[in-house]
Amino acid sequence: MTSGPETRYRVRGGNQLQGTVFVQGAKNAALKMIAASLLAEKGRTVLRNVPVIEDVRRAVELAQALGAIVKFHEAERTLVVDASELTSSVLPADIARRFRASVLFVPALLHRLGEATIEGIGGCNLGSRNLDFHYRGFARLGAIVDEQEDRIHIKAGRLRGAHLYLDTPSHTGTENLIMAASLAPGTTVIDNCALEPEVLDVIAFLTKMGARISGGGTGFVTVQGVGELTAVEHTVMADRIDAAVFAMAAAMAGGEVTLVGASLEHFGVVRWKLEQMGVEFAEHGAILQVRRDRQLRPINVITCPYPGFATDLQSPIMAVSCLADGTSYIRETIFDGRYMLAGELNKMGAKVEVAGNAVLVHGPTALHGAEVIAHDLRTGIALVLAGLAAEGETVVSPGYLIDRGHASVASRLATLGADITEEITG
Ligand code: EPU
Repeated sequence: MTSGPETRYRVRGGNQLQGTVFVQGAKNAALKMIAASLLAEKGRTVLRNVPVIEDVRRAVELAQALGAIVKFHEAERTLVVDASELTSSVLPADIARRFRASVLFVPALLHRLGEATIEGIGGCNLGSRNLDFHYRGFARLGAIVDEQEDRIHIKAGRLRGAHLYLDTPSHTGTENLIMAASLAPGTTVIDNCALEPEVLDVIAFLTKMGARISGGGTGFVTVQGVGELTAVEHTVMADRIDAAVFAMAAAMAGGEVTLVGASLEHFGVVRWKLEQMGVEFAEHGAILQVRRDRQLRPINVITCPYPGFATDLQSPIMAVSCLADGTSYIRETIFDGRYMLAGELNKMGAKVEVAGNAVLVHGPTALHGAEVIAHDLRTGIALVLAGLAAEGETVVSPGYLIDRGHASVASRLATLGADITEEITG
């Protein structure tokens, strides 16, 4: 997985961005759909617009480890899944330990094989990220959950519909419990569901497969269990985080960028915050133009579940705030451990101060190139953005973490005129 060649990104700042870039398919929808495709006993699932990223490759490896025949046609961004035979109920440690979305394969294993074992569970390095809502939900649907130090064993028992609730509107928790409920006889009601656009796309996919789900986007979802789900074809929605990152690249470097496949509506509060900073948007159908040609203003940001300011964009906005004329205030409320970027930006000459549970970014600062560490996917991409505005050369590693979630970062930014190369060593 991470052994073998290592990638790092070399960015030489100073170029304004101009041109057109294509937004990738949504990581956080595609991963769920790959797992959901294993619910279908018959036929072949065809997923289009699948982002060519490391996390998708891990999901493919997991599906294959369970016995599914999966082909990822990367040039066509199309994935074909034949899950007619599943041969293993074990999610192996070497993948699951580093890939938190592994838990999404549990519903298919419970329905198809009656049990699931997760040998380890991990993910990005984002502080304490629990999965208790998932396991408690499976248990309320009738599963027996045996949590041990190095593995979790879940036995299906007799899954049946139940009333479930989430303490907070967990994105993956909502999708996972909807998947588990889709084939559980009876009615399941899930209270306090996530509202993210990806959840709605996953519901649309499951509905095509034959699931009966209502209430998506209301925070209160009802699922009527059905006897069977069938393989279908689906095009994954555009990735709103990828789109916003490219919008922020334009904010960082200045210039004008055209994003093909972006939806401003899916930006939620992020749109208004960028506009307050001085970024201009013009939407023409699915084409979004982003322009920044003036001094940026400081901003206050508090991350919240959708449509609030996305936690995944907290690091990128911290980088952008370094250029703003005054002090910005940023507070993370979803994941602890997401302020690791502060120290890295400071290596580049930023004045980022962690003040209790918030961050103050004192701008504007003239950033300079440095060797910096990507602590997770979003820190990594934020440092690439910082590099676009820094004088001299910025080297961001490990690039693998960026590649987990953003496809062809160097070539897409280079198309816009950025001076960035991907370097593979070892
Ligand atoms: N939480 C619990 N127990 C649970 C589930 C969540 O306490 O069982 C807590 C988490 O610790 C966190 C909060 O609830 O404090 C919200 O977590 P959520 O479950 O919503 O996050 P997630 O579903 O695990 C997804 C994305 C993340 C994104 C978040 C928030 C996927 C695969 N991941 O994670 O994406 O940050 O929603 O929108 O969909 C990323 O793309 O870089 C990424 C980390």
